[in-house]
Amino acid sequence: MDIKQYLEQKRQGVDRFLDAVMPPESEPPANLHKAMRYSLFAGGKRVRPILAIAAYEALGGTAPTILPLASSLELIHTYSLIHDDLPAMDNDDYRRGKLTNHKVFGEAMAILAGDALLTMAFDLVSRPESADGLDPRAQVRVIQELAAGSGNVGMVGGQVADIEAEGKDIDLATLESVHRWKTGKLIRASVRIGAIAGGADADQLNRLTSYAEDIGLAFQIADDVLNVTGTREELGKDANTDASRGKKTYPTFFGVDGARKLADERVASAIAHLNDFGPKAESLRELARYITARKN
Ligand code: IPE
Ligand code: IPE
Ligand code: MG
Ligand code: MG
Repeated sequence: MDIKQYLEQKRQGVDRFLDAVMPPESEPPANLHKAMRYSLFAGGKRVRPILAIAAYEALGGTAPTILPLASSLELIHTYSLIHDDLPAMDNDDYRRGKLTNHKVFGEAMAILAGDALLTMAFDLVSRPESADGLDPRAQVRVIQELAAGSGNVGMVGGQVADIEAEGKDIDLATLESVHRWKTGKLIRASVRIGAIAGGADADQLNRLTSYAEDIGLAFQIADDVLNVTGTREELGKDANTDASRGKKTYPTFFGVDGARKLADERVASAIAHLNDFGPKAESLRELARYITARKN
């Protein structure tokens, strides 16, 4: 399979869906909708929705029902990026190749745009039409996965640990835990949401969860590496910010090559968890490889 083509095709499907559900810029409160759309359509890779779709397809799912569930992950992710870039957090000026949300709309509107994207994600997944063909109990499980992956026991919990680790001489176990939480938990939720919608049994869900935990860690190690090796043009965000902010990352511990090797090991382990899934899981395997091969 051609992973580039797969990513492009799925990204377009997610973008079309998001564009259709997101209120137009002119709809009041217009400034809020403008700010939400600005970051949402600034050019994200849509990795989390695509992981949900690929997990769904790995279980034989074919219905378009997966799109609202998958797209809700992108609303959460985009909110997390807007807040992550705020002066009180990473204080970044560029994201997805454009000025960060607060640089354009001001801090108050950026906070509110994030809040509204977060809330909208739960509106979207809980709509009756989002569960078309889905068992209502499965829809509730999906909503719970989204909450757990996002909040105090998920991404937000990880962001707290990340902030608390800043400027500290943390050990490797602490760093790994930060990565598994701030980035890993939402990626884990993405795969599990696709799996639950696809009707995974307990054993399949466990294997897919192990796959997700491996690629979640690999994804943030790759982000650390790109922070050292990439440029603003390639990344769409400033490079070398971790070092300048006194953040210990995988390259701090292992160097760039050592960190790359560890990420590749996690990818190999992720793919091994898919051994029993056959050809339908090929896109999940390719997505795992893409996570360390990507340039942004
Ligand atoms: C960046 O995520 C932030 C992390 C959690 C590492 P992505 O690399 O998925 O960013 P976009 O969505 O493509 O902009
Ligand atoms: C982002 O982590 C994780 C989030 C939950 C948003 P980073 O702060 O390391 O990611 P970038 O480098 O800003 O995208
Ligand atoms: Mg951060
Ligand atoms: Mg950041």
